[in-house]
Amino acid sequence: NKATMAIDRRYVAGEIDNRLYGSFVEHLGRAVYEGIYEPGHPLADERGFRKDVMEMVRELQVPLIRYPGGNFVSGYNWEDGVGPVSERPRKLDLAWLSTETNEIGTNEFMEWCKAVGAEVNMAVNLGTRGVDAARNLVEYCNHPGGSYYSDMRIAHGWKDPHNIKTWCLGNEMDGPWQIGRKTATEYGRLAAEAAKAMRWVDPSIELVACGSSSQTMDTFADWEATVLDHTYDYVDYLSLHSYYGNRSGDSANFLAKSLDMDSFISSVISICDYMKAKKRSKKKIMLSFDEWNVWYHTGADNPNRWAVAPHILEDVYNLEDALVVGTLLITLLKHADRVKIACQAQLVNVIAPIMTEKGGAAWKQTIFYPYMHVSVFGRGTVLQSQVTSAKYDSKDFTDVPYLESVAVLNEEAGEVIVFAVNRHLEEALELDCDLRSFEGIALLEYIVMDHDNSKAGNSAGSPNEVAPRQGSGAALSDGKLTVRLPKHSWNVLRFK
Ligand code: AHR
Repeated sequence: NKATMAIDRRYVAGEIDNRLYGSFVEHLGRAVYEGIYEPGHPLADERGFRKDVMEMVRELQVPLIRYPGGNFVSGYNWEDGVGPVSERPRKLDLAWLSTETNEIGTNEFMEWCKAVGAEVNMAVNLGTRGVDAARNLVEYCNHPGGSYYSDMRIAHGWKDPHNIKTWCLGNEMDGPWQIGRKTATEYGRLAAEAAKAMRWVDPSIELVACGSSSQTMDTFADWEATVLDHTYDYVDYLSLHSYYGNRSGDSANFLAKSLDMDSFISSVISICDYMKAKKRSKKKIMLSFDEWNVWYHTGADNPNRWAVAPHILEDVYNLEDALVVGTLLITLLKHADRVKIACQAQLVNVIAPIMTEKGGAAWKQTIFYPYMHVSVFGRGTVLQSQVTSAKYDSKDFTDVPYLESVAVLNEEAGEVIVFAVNRHLEEALELDCDLRSFEGIALLEYIVMDHDNSKAGNSAGSPNEVAPRQGSGAALSDGKLTVRLPKHSWNVLRFK
């Protein structure tokens, strides 16, 4: 089982926008309440934010967090979440059949993001609401003062504008599960008009139009084309969403699913560029993969109707899931020239790298680690590497390389980083990597995450069962690296 990589500093595949390492916090289950916010918890700060959770989010160096949904946003009135907390309404959230207390709203979430060093990717409600609520929210958040909504923010205690740069025009508007679902034409028109008005309030903002809620929707591709036909001149990004799972217990097939993400991205690029040609436009639409992850251990049902912060979508991840997350991150990086924003869905408790117990511990799931490594080390430019690898066929894919890898040049840190997954379930992979274009380069660190049992995971009682360790046996001589990547493993090689 062998593979080779040749990396040359002269061949750049794409500049990485740091927002590629975004995440997502939705008012869903225990993501907000009992997740980021739990007043009364021994580790809560004076605002009620859990310090242990904040610390882990900082470790991930999350640059951007999508908020407040997701499906939730399509029924959300942002005005319910601002002003004195005691006056905020308790509302039925029809997306997750829960009760929303509105204790946390826009301003509190902005405060929390500031504390963890992240920007917000704010979604507006284009399900039950429209242009007016959207432009008012931009005014509330971004206008310095001297107008009705900006003065309202100041009166609520936030003197300085939040200056939110990235905005989503609704969420998954093609989905039958969405409150206020629309046809592509209905949505395209609404998104264009909302975008116009929002940008009139603040010309500096960037806007994301909704693509299909997944590649498997019957309307996929037509939806994208129609929406872009209406919005092309007004938006900067088109969104993609995709979740992957292993319901049939076919691990070889599951581990190949990043190939699906790869072809999904290529298809959406083609549609964007077709619309560019059709419109004779000079502008290129970029991609925002603003929901992606492994999600299949739990469903979306809430058996605890109208509960506050019910335990839903609390997937417990294993090593195999982390490897898939690693391959998905590598795939996003390979498309860094067009995918400028991506949000792992989600951040805390809900299909998340971080889990918490009410009143108790917080711990890192297996998927925390590839996300952290790529976010922390993978800044700069993606280099085009030449890769050969032994391959296999699985149920849905042919020619799946055992090696999934990407190389990043971080000029600021003076580092080259290789991220690699060995998909093989039984055998190690002998990797030869040619780095001769980097004169005098040395191996700084080899990190590996593996486990004998690919189904092993972490829990409150056993938080470090699956965690990265220092790898051994990597040798670099005359610019040529040889390393043995263990079976089903996640690997990070740092060179300086
Ligand atoms: O991330 C969970 C949900 O998945 C989001 O609310 C929705 O947009 C998607 O269907």
